[in-house]
Amino acid sequence: MKSTIHRRRFIQAATRAAGASLVPPALSSAWSAPPGKALRAHDPQARALLSRMTLEEKIGQMTQAEQNALKDEGDIERYFLGSLLSGGSSDPKAGNTLQAWTEMYEGYQARALKTRLAIPLLFGVDAVHGHNNVLGAVIFPHNIGLGSTRNPGLVERAARITALEVRATGIQWAFAPCVAVPRDERWGRTYEGFSEDPEVARRLGEAAVRGLQQQRLDHPTSVLACAKHFVGDGGTVMGTGKPRSTDKKRLLDQGDTPMSEAELRRIHLPGYLGAIEAGVGSIMPSYSSWNGVKVSGSRRLLTEILKEEMGFEGFLISDYAAIDQITPDYKNAIEISINAGMDMVMVPNEYVRFFTLLRELVTEGRVKMSRIDDAVLRILRVKAAMGLLAKNPRIRADRRLHRSFGSAAHREVARECVRQSLVLLKNEKNVLPLSKTAARLHVAGRSADDIGDQCGGWTIDWQGRSGEVTTGGVTILAAVRSAVSASTEVTFSADGAGASGADAAVLVMGERPYAEGAGDREDLSLGPDEMAALERLKAAGVPIVAILLSGRPMLIEDALSRCDAMVAAFLPGTEGRGITDVLFGDFKPKGRLSFTWPRSMAQVPINAGDATYEPRFPLGFGLTFS
Ligand code: GLC
Repeated sequence: MKSTIHRRRFIQAATRAAGASLVPPALSSAWSAPPGKALRAHDPQARALLSRMTLEEKIGQMTQAEQNALKDEGDIERYFLGSLLSGGSSDPKAGNTLQAWTEMYEGYQARALKTRLAIPLLFGVDAVHGHNNVLGAVIFPHNIGLGSTRNPGLVERAARITALEVRATGIQWAFAPCVAVPRDERWGRTYEGFSEDPEVARRLGEAAVRGLQQQRLDHPTSVLACAKHFVGDGGTVMGTGKPRSTDKKRLLDQGDTPMSEAELRRIHLPGYLGAIEAGVGSIMPSYSSWNGVKVSGSRRLLTEILKEEMGFEGFLISDYAAIDQITPDYKNAIEISINAGMDMVMVPNEYVRFFTLLRELVTEGRVKMSRIDDAVLRILRVKAAMGLLAKNPRIRADRRLHRSFGSAAHREVARECVRQSLVLLKNEKNVLPLSKTAARLHVAGRSADDIGDQCGGWTIDWQGRSGEVTTGGVTILAAVRSAVSASTEVTFSADGAGASGADAAVLVMGERPYAEGAGDREDLSLGPDEMAALERLKAAGVPIVAILLSGRPMLIEDALSRCDAMVAAFLPGTEGRGITDVLFGDFKPKGRLSFTWPRSMAQVPINAGDATYEPRFPLGFGLTFS
């Protein structure tokens, strides 16, 4: 009863702070945990287990190690580890195949079941646009593209397919959805957010959680979701970022978000409203700070607002070594973060040191046993909801799911996501749609035949990489070749040469893959190679259709003036045919920008609602075919 009243009060406060649009009545009145999502219902089972646990077994449940960092797989038993993760790039020793991942997961679970209480592991991966660590998985558009669809049903379907492919490896936890509200286009994680608009983040974040978790967390194809990064990760200001290892520059990522609590609630909280409404079982606090205080050490944010006011019943998992940034004294950092409300720590490498220091902190009374019990209860309540505390928990992979892994049916859903994510920015003289029976089409740009550029970061490797990175997928060049008639000649040049005489040219421009702070940029102009290719096509005197692959809004005035049509394709993933479906008119473009596109760097950051708002393309812009 108490928590429901609290929730209603929080909603009223959130609505007042944000204006009635934030939490529509339907949501506010339905905000008691949806059926099957009342995690507290599993407390009797969780408490029964908790009462039998030693301090070491409890601390083990709060410890998440990187699987690549295990000094000895026996450490799973030795330290009663409750969770492992595979970070962006860590792959099984035997390579990135579906089989290797499945065998790796099952091997680790088998070790966990040898412990006294045989509590299964939670194994987490960054399945942020498909099961993107595994070769052959379907790679969906990153969230910036899904944001342009404004289609919660489609986002839910994409998450459902992702869950099926994650469970095919046995893994049952995805560090997704990212419900950041990126406000500065120069941030390297802009593409991980759905939109600069908090309401879009709320609606699509809720849909993604539903797709991953379904109505019941113990369903054999449900995957525990993790809304991230709580809170204000997308609101940091330029110059406050963590110094980059490459050039020591302090730009945006993991920086500071200076604003009032009312502003923080209005802009950066809605994604968590949606996720909690959908029953999300885990939330990841951010590396960033709020008014100079590290979120991962903020009791106000993690306990008072998220757990007490918002009534979040699941558990908090820290970001990768995020608590290390709270203070140089690691033992004190652990003390601050756990006492602030962190429940599980993604250590991820020094798990023995973390285990030892947290035990000391409890022994010394600096972390109370009641806090340990609350953290472990939250973790066990989620494991119970997932069926992991049952007599014979389902922890082996269901290999029947291997049949649909990367299947044509799954790819069709991703292709639909690509189609609906495309935003038509310009279409002079109706040069689009192109004809499938044209005599010759010339495709240009190095990214035109590059699946790695099409997928972007978080694809097989943490940073992603250009070139052949997946064992599936269709590049834009291959898609053009498959779309046209047998009589149509398709020529290609990376640099734009050789186009003269063609009926039209398709130039693929854009960014190279990146992730996180490595993607922070001080300027959003297109590269010289892209512009040189465009000049060559211009000189050839052919109609030019530009396709822009980017993780964020770019400065495109020069390019726009030199081409006849331009489509923003963001980071579409493996299904390049979704692009040609629109280029050749089988489907009309319907995407609408989920971020504002600036005229110049002087305008950045620029967001709808700014006092001065004269963008190149406003939030919501998108043309279609007449
Ligand atoms: C990363 C990211 C987070 C990810 C985690 C595990 O640094 O900040 O989004 O889930 O570490 O890879």
